[in-house]
Amino acid sequence: MEAIIGEERKERLSRRYGEEDSVLIGTGGYVSPDPHLWEDVLTAVVIRRPVLLKGPTGSGKTKLAESVSGFFSQPMHQVNCSVDLDAEALLGYKTIIQKEGRTEIDFVDGPVIHAMKNGHILYIDEINMAKPETLPILHSVLDHRRMLTNPFTGEVISAHPDFNVIAAINEGYVGTVPMNEALKNRFIAFHVPYLGMQETRELLESEFPDAPSVLIATMLDISEDLREQVRNGLLEDEAASIRSLIDATELALHIGPERAVRYAVAEKMEDRGERQLVMDLVRTRIR
Ligand SMILES: Nc1ncnc2c1ncn2[C@@H]1O[C@H](COP(=O)(O)OP(=O)(O)OP(=O)(O)O)[C@@H](O)[C@H]1O
Ligand SMILES: [Mg+2]
Repeated sequence: MEAIIGEERKERLSRRYGEEDSVLIGTGGYVSPDPHLWEDVLTAVVIRRPVLLKGPTGSGKTKLAESVSGFFSQPMHQVNCSVDLDAEALLGYKTIIQKEGRTEIDFVDGPVIHAMKNGHILYIDEINMAKPETLPILHSVLDHRRMLTNPFTGEVISAHPDFNVIAAINEGYVGTVPMNEALKNRFIAFHVPYLGMQETRELLESEFPDAPSVLIATMLDISEDLREQVRNGLLEDEAASIRSLIDATELALHIGPERAVRYAVAEKMEDRGERQLVMDLVRTRIR
């Protein structure tokens, strides 16, 4: 572990977490797929348990975390995990500063310590992309101790009573590793599925209040067909992604649904047969 890091890396890290723009209060807007999920997640947050959101890409995990932040008006720090995530990216780094004409060593708090001290939410995205040896640093933060001894400074930090952790994973995707059991055991885990048809309708209507109702109806019909083919095993799960549907609907406002679904859904399928099937389904729905 470097004691004092170079300028280039410092700049990279400070871009990652030093700037205030990485700390935001979310706006809300999460639509719950069932009557319980939203309230149950809020309950876990209120009783100060770390929350783990598990679900496919584009199912609203980040949106859910942002909505928790919005609900409690509690700022949220985001950490995106990758194989190069290390202790400095989580905890902070030592730097040299000039103070009253003297050179001193200072420590710049990273997102974990900042959130702990200020009672903010720490959102750890794609936690199963991190190298397994990096995250045990967080074990004492995530269990009843809610504290951390900063290995760089020796400082003992006890979390502010409002401090919360929300983590998200896409299970089984390329580049992910199964989460270490001791880490997983510290979380209350929630499955975050794609929305059902009724809730998807609500979401599209609130996202696109000015869209022609015939266009919304067409997009919902297409979504229903895509889901059916996912259930039949003919399309990969991501064909039903809510993110892709929102993107397709937004594009369709400008270029029509056929090309919109091609770009937002079909072109992302690996398999040529699946791309063809998506487009065949779309054509049967265009009015
Ligand atoms: N249940 C939902 N309620 C509100 N918006 C949703 C919901 N599901 C998906 N969305 C919308 O779909 C888009 C993708 O959602 P989000 O980024 O939260 O997904 P994610 O699960 O975090 O995906 P990834 O695993 O790829 O990070 C956003 O525009 C989000 O607003
Ligand atoms: Mg996300």
